Amino acid sequence: MSNPQSGIFALGTAAHAYLEFDAEEARQGPELVPAIASLREPRTTMGGVNLVAGFRPELWREVALDDAPAELAGFNEDVAGPDGFTMPARQHDAVLWLSGSAYDVVFEVARKAIAELAALASVAAETSSWPYLHDRDLTGFIDGTENPTLIDAPELVLVPEGKPGSGGTILLLQKWAHDATAWEALPAERQEQVIGRTKLDSVELEDRLEDSHVASTDQDRFGKIFRRNMPYGTVTDHGTMFVGFSSEQRPLSAMLESMAGLPSGRRDALTLYTRALSGAYYFIPSADALRRLATLPAAPL
Ligand code: HEM
Repeated sequence: MSNPQSGIFALGTAAHAYLEFDAEEARQGPELVPAIASLREPRTTMGGVNLVAGFRPELWREVALDDAPAELAGFNEDVAGPDGFTMPARQHDAVLWLSGSAYDVVFEVARKAIAELAALASVAAETSSWPYLHDRDLTGFIDGTENPTLIDAPELVLVPEGKPGSGGTILLLQKWAHDATAWEALPAERQEQVIGRTKLDSVELEDRLEDSHVASTDQDRFGKIFRRNMPYGTVTDHGTMFVGFSSEQRPLSAMLESMAGLPSGRRDALTLYTRALSGAYYFIPSADALRRLATLPAAPL
């Protein structure tokens, strides 16, 4: 049995940081993997920080061929819909997702991690996130209603035992800017049609529209995923950090294609009010696979 990185399932954390790294030079990529595998979150559990590490699929495969899911690829090409709507490919070599009870501890651990890796890699993208009104995203709707429960999620989103990469999972990390002015100009009924659920209590609309967000990403069609989305940004410039896990890449990539209007020609109505700024796939290996690759003594950050 391979144990997952537990931070994937650590709910209720109020402060998040997503750090995406690029190796300074391509030849340093393979060294970056054991360096990241050697990072350890602080041992204090009361004010602790969850640390989840992931790697560009091709880089992980280079270092741990036997532990890499077959056919997993990075976000190497833009996803472009028939009307020109585009989700840009912004693949980086590695990601650290830190989450904790408050931003000060996340900030400290993030800075130490960056310093630990400084000889090999630099931060290519950084986003800080925080929950909004308990469980809403910045559209004002409850986000995560159709998620599997924590009892069911591991079985649904971890690569099963016996397969390469078992206990690992595939992460799609994608930053979406919201056009708050256009969104807030819509009457609540139209917002509900765009999402496909009621705003107050997230009940699915019986007569949901084909271009609603929930129809465009329907898990009965594409397969189950586990979302840990978080709001990000400032008062004047903000959006959603989409953080979605799946045991296979296809459900995630098929949802993106569907949102862009491939192959139906009908783009997700939510994309009229939100714009993808980034997009990367990372393999999140099991905790056991990381431990096997760690070369440095496990000193906590
Ligand atoms: C601006 C970005 C996004 C926002 C604000 C957003 C928000 C929402 C909201 C409010 C719901 C309805 C409640 C729920 O079940 O969680 C939802 C459902 C869902 N979203 Fe998103 N989402 C975004 C992007 C994405 C992306 C990029 C994907 C997939 C790659 C995705 C996949 C899903 C799925 C699978 C569901 C549940 C569908 C079902 O009912 O089976 N979302 N999202």
